[in-house]
Amino acid sequence: MLFKDTKYLDFKFPEPQYLGAKYIHRGWIAQYIPDDVNTVLDAFSGSQSIAYMLKQLGKKVITNDFLSFNNLTGKALIENPGFILEKHDIEILFSDNSNPSEFNLIDKLYSGLFFRHEDSVFADSFRSNVHKLNNQYKQALALTIMCRSMTRKVTMGHFAHTQALVYAADPARVKRNRSLIRPLKELFTDLLPDYNAAIFDNKQKNISYNKNILELLPLLKDIDLVYFDPPYCNSHADYQSFYHLLETYVEYWKDKQFVNGTKRYEPKRYSGFDKNSEAVSSLKLMFERANHIPNWLISYNDRSYPDIDTMIGLIEPYRNVKIKRKTYNTGRGGKGSVAGSSEILLVCTTK
Ligand SMILES: C[S@@+](CC[C@H](N)C(=O)[O-])C[C@H]1O[C@@H](n2cnc3c(N)ncnc32)[C@H](O)[C@@H]1O
Repeated sequence: MLFKDTKYLDFKFPEPQYLGAKYIHRGWIAQYIPDDVNTVLDAFSGSQSIAYMLKQLGKKVITNDFLSFNNLTGKALIENPGFILEKHDIEILFSDNSNPSEFNLIDKLYSGLFFRHEDSVFADSFRSNVHKLNNQYKQALALTIMCRSMTRKVTMGHFAHTQALVYAADPARVKRNRSLIRPLKELFTDLLPDYNAAIFDNKQKNISYNKNILELLPLLKDIDLVYFDPPYCNSHADYQSFYHLLETYVEYWKDKQFVNGTKRYEPKRYSGFDKNSEAVSSLKLMFERANHIPNWLISYNDRSYPDIDTMIGLIEPYRNVKIKRKTYNTGRGGKGSVAGSSEILLVCTTK
């Protein structure tokens, strides 16, 4: 598509560190959005990088992810019509723990595992003060930036390993990435200006949902295009193992068990897309339930499960499909982005 409306394109999405994020492919994906499309659903929005690009194009954006911390990023960056964190808000967030006997979960679970005691105590006191901000978008923005600070602090930016503090004690690794030893408060303060600068109003009523997509699709009306970027089995499909700590932090779970070496919460939320045994039947149901949306764009990678022929076979009863390919030159494209493999976009139109 041509960028008829360029007034929001100078805003900059704070660069994500999220497995499978399509941030670097956003321009490539944008060219397959027909001009007459007004309302777009980002069905598996993750870091919100594609939802943000759609907001920049002036679309009405409906964004969704079944994990709460991703939904909060959607509230903060997509639904938010203009609330930023000001000096007074930061004073509230950085003040003492408002209820230390209630707000000590991060210290109890993750001190000595992912964070030093001082950082966990800071994360807990910050969390105890979030509700004192007088607006849901400020609250969402505060938690979004804190989650991003936490991923910056751990090697590889996820929580499916138990080496965070071991790596943070390794001078060679610290030399390559000083964030490993910087206090969370400092990382937060550094990230804040970029997040504040990313907030804008595109004059549309954008909405961020926190639902399983299979339940959300039948509830939506008048969507012109849906972008599907589901987790594909074979490549990091289990987002709850990678980002459990962020979900625990925003939910502040009190009614879960915390299992294995990483202290992941249990039971997990039901995805339907993170196990080989369920993936095909979930995709089938998803396409059936998306039949009221005329245009579909589907991200896919040639290392994904199910294979491309199975995918096309699932789509063909409903839509015509064209396959667009972008070949990676390096391994820096996110999920499955090994040099020589390709990122695929299935462009689906009504028959
Ligand atoms: C490949 S990632 C999306 C990446 C995103 N396009 C980006 O640019 O950051 C897939 C996302 O699907 C979410 N997810 C998994 N199962 C889901 C379900 N049943 N309904 C909604 N979201 C789901 C995961 O939490 C994850 O964020």
